[in-house]
Amino acid sequence: MRLSRYFMPTLRDAPADAQIVSHRLMLRAGLVRQEAAGIYAWLPLGLRVLRKIEQIVREEMDRAGAVEILMPTLQLADLWRESGRYDDYGEEMLRIKDRHERDLLYGPTAEEVVTDIFRSYVRSYKDLPKNLYNIQWKFRDERRPRFGVMRGREFLMKDAYSFDVDEAGARASYNRMFLAYLNTFARMELQAIPVRADTGPIGGDLSHEFIILAETGESEVFAHRDLVEMGAPGPDIDWFGDLQPLVDQRTRLYAASDEMHDQARFEAEAPPEKRMTARGIEVGHIFYFGEKYSKPMKAVIAGSDGVERPAQMGSYGVGVSRLVAAIIEASHDDAGIIWPESVAPYGVGIINLRPGDAAVDAACERAYAALTTAGKEPLLDDRDERPGAKFASLDLVGLPWQLIIGPKGLAEGNVELKRRATGERQAMPLEAALKVIAP
Ligand SMILES: Nc1ncnc2c1ncn2[C@@H]1O[C@H](COP(=O)(O)OP(=O)(O)O)[C@@H](O)[C@H]1O
Ligand SMILES: [Mg+2]
Repeated sequence: MRLSRYFMPTLRDAPADAQIVSHRLMLRAGLVRQEAAGIYAWLPLGLRVLRKIEQIVREEMDRAGAVEILMPTLQLADLWRESGRYDDYGEEMLRIKDRHERDLLYGPTAEEVVTDIFRSYVRSYKDLPKNLYNIQWKFRDERRPRFGVMRGREFLMKDAYSFDVDEAGARASYNRMFLAYLNTFARMELQAIPVRADTGPIGGDLSHEFIILAETGESEVFAHRDLVEMGAPGPDIDWFGDLQPLVDQRTRLYAASDEMHDQARFEAEAPPEKRMTARGIEVGHIFYFGEKYSKPMKAVIAGSDGVERPAQMGSYGVGVSRLVAAIIEASHDDAGIIWPESVAPYGVGIINLRPGDAAVDAACERAYAALTTAGKEPLLDDRDERPGAKFASLDLVGLPWQLIIGPKGLAEGNVELKRRATGERQAMPLEAALKVIAP
């Protein structure tokens, strides 16, 4: 992409009401624009990051055996009346009437819709397990939308729903999601800690929140340091084999969010030097809730004994749009965003220090073509701007590499290559720089 033809509306200053660094940087780098409280338009750069995050989530869901569908944003109130949640959900639900006076709502989540889909087709234990997911916009009329897309009213969520014939099967489905989440966040270079979470009125021990550490986070976490340092399991595990040991290895170490925290247990289970207390951002949340929806909605499965029982269900959410902000909270400096390679909107920024200079233009075009071919998605700054402004805007938008091409360097046969994360700059011939970026 050439900046002269692009739409990247960067701002020198963020609006004063943007309180946390990710919100300020998202506005300044031109990733999003607020249209109403908690409702955002995604501008080109922000949309590219959102799509990359979405794609990582999708690939890891698919790897773990989940199947993608797309459910509507508007749902029938009658389905929620069946589950008994229509009246309970309260003011967070945006309720709508169509021209026939039928009650609709903008989905805050999709347990009812997916249960309705499932019960329409699946009857036998032979068809299980199933895990259906979608990546779709949700609406929750939060009382206090804040921190930009971190806590929006409209936000993009990946929500998966598992269906099993019994509790053992449901636990295996849960384990697949638990481990897939660790891999998902690791690919975004995030260290996500699975903490025990409140299961609400359903009870049971099967709910975890995935928290990434950040001072501005809304949750407080208490965790054993060994868990914080334990890596993700990696993609090459036997997804349909016994995953319990891999999950146990992690869940036996203490980790809880504030509402589940038990100080006495923490002190008993973690020696003082292993106790970590920190703030964090919830980027994912998984639940096993059994028959909560399948029973009232009569999503029943015939077992091998021929007896029909409600399907055992779980649900698994990832805050896709929240992750854009969470990654920035975890990776930035005073000059701007530092995107991890895997979600960067473009792989490299080429800075043309003197547009109109034939040699500089030619070198930039050569770099642009080579990097495009290598799949590095270059963004060429060919605007008629001062070098200082170009450096500042590329630092702000945070692409992993900057390739700086100007008349002085070229006269000596060199360009400059800068690594955004470290600030390290090195002069070298163009061909050598291209080899570093795209080995
Ligand atoms: N208002 C919001 N804005 C952005 N992301 C959200 C919002 N609410 C929830 N999410 C994301 O969606 C994921 C799944 O949501 P869920 O756990 O159902 O919500 P809650 O934590 O409110 O119970 C959360 O872990 C979070 O990452
Ligand atoms: Mg949650």
